[in-house]
Amino acid sequence: KILILDFGSQVTQLIARRVREANVFCEIHPCDVSDDFVRAYGAKGVILSGSHMSAYEEANDKAPAAVFELGVPVLGICYGMQTMALQLGGGVEAGKVREFGYAEVRAEGQTRLLAGIEDFRSASGEPMLKVWMSHGDKVSALPPGFSLMASTPSCPIAAMADEKRGFYGVQFHPEVTHTVQGTALIQRFVRDICAAKPDWVMGDYIAEAVAKIREQVGSDEVILGLSGGVDSSVAAALIHRAIGDQLTCVFVDNGLLRLNEADMVMDMFARNMGVKVIHVDASEQFLGKLAGVSDPEAKRKIIGREFVEVFQTESAKLANAKWLAQGTIYPDVIESAGAKSKKATTIKSHHNVGGLPDTLHLKLLEPLRELFKDEVRALGVALGLPPSMVYRHPFPGPGLGVRILGEVKKDYADLLRRADAIFIEELRATVDENSGKNWYDLTSQAFAVFLPVKSVGVMGDGRTYDYVVALRAVQTQDFMTAHWAHLPYELLGKVSNRIINEVRGINRVVYDVSGKPPATIEWE
Ligand code: XMP
Repeated sequence: KILILDFGSQVTQLIARRVREANVFCEIHPCDVSDDFVRAYGAKGVILSGSHMSAYEEANDKAPAAVFELGVPVLGICYGMQTMALQLGGGVEAGKVREFGYAEVRAEGQTRLLAGIEDFRSASGEPMLKVWMSHGDKVSALPPGFSLMASTPSCPIAAMADEKRGFYGVQFHPEVTHTVQGTALIQRFVRDICAAKPDWVMGDYIAEAVAKIREQVGSDEVILGLSGGVDSSVAAALIHRAIGDQLTCVFVDNGLLRLNEADMVMDMFARNMGVKVIHVDASEQFLGKLAGVSDPEAKRKIIGREFVEVFQTESAKLANAKWLAQGTIYPDVIESAGAKSKKATTIKSHHNVGGLPDTLHLKLLEPLRELFKDEVRALGVALGLPPSMVYRHPFPGPGLGVRILGEVKKDYADLLRRADAIFIEELRATVDENSGKNWYDLTSQAFAVFLPVKSVGVMGDGRTYDYVVALRAVQTQDFMTAHWAHLPYELLGKVSNRIINEVRGINRVVYDVSGKPPATIEWE
């Protein structure tokens, strides 16, 4: 395993992510762990993270001295490189300007870390790397034993190496995706240089997580708001694996779910897996509160509030529950840690089942807190959840409430559910010849939107005057920006025909060709 020492960088978790992507187990520990801890840890290698601190200021954190005496390779990233340089007898100076953004680094000489992984050649044929830099200070003098590994015009010692001891320092951030060969570099370090075994698989994680949950919870009871989404479902499956009937899930039908969603969730969890699930049909309550309300933010707030109320009522009935389990995943943790500026305008007030208030007076159990989305998915599959469920597109907390424009009515929701199901069915059924994948998997999110406007049509010999449905399908990495998906015309044509023929009440289908920005993915 690899030991990552955290000096407080925003992106330390990403280092762990890359190491685990190389199938090598790792853990993050604070940089001020003791020398004994480091010696007893049994690391095959150590990675020192970046930091917002300045290494050359005396008072700032150093790596435990034992790190450099273990006889295992050490990789210092950004601040990690600087503290390594200082602690081993080199020098660091305050940068006059902060360097922040893309940089092109020239590899110097042949090192085990960089050899063969540069991603392009400079005009004069030198091996180069496109990297992400973010630093103020920089290493100004190599410690004894080190040689130069890479440089840029503004940062002459952009990377350094002592190949004999296996000590490497890089001023740039290999853990962020902007560094093109970052994953390759980290894989090279942990697998080849540290010789750590690539044996980190989800199966092992389950055993560990199960033991941890049992220890944390003891004989207490736990409740969990199950939404049918990936995160809460995987959390439920994992916690159920750990404590069985001590877990009770609450599944709230708000009347804004997709077609057959409630049945699917109850089938999978209650009937197949034997999880205790309380199915609350609160659709009338939600739709009642939404009657007459057409403002998108007002609708979102009502749906969020009702959810909390229903959940509170149900949890009050479980008098013994001491824990509230949530499917919080690592990206949620980063977001709520305030990475987003408080001053930013609210585009939409997001709500999901994770947003429960502390007035519940329950302790929080968040077994997915350290996992990224794709790890959560892999975990779900390993726990026996069907891949079709685990690889489902995301569905917003307010559900169809933000896909029915303006006032929400039950009739509208019923029409929309059927149109949406047809769209999804055809996406899954249509395979793209080039990639061999179906269009559901080729898109990140796809759904139908109900437009409460009527237009004239003709069907058979008759005139129709019915509603419009818009289809939305996007491709995106992070849902912050997105492209509309270039779905084949034949597919769009088929979906349109089926919706108009099968869903009485809809006589026109349009396709949304707006990117995000300037549009958002959901229409409200
Ligand atoms: P927008 O519409 O803001 O959506 O481009 C970005 C992603 O967030 C989802 N979304 C939500 N998810 N609660 C959620 O859990 C919400 O209130 C919410 N609103 C939007 C949306 O489906 C898309 O994936």
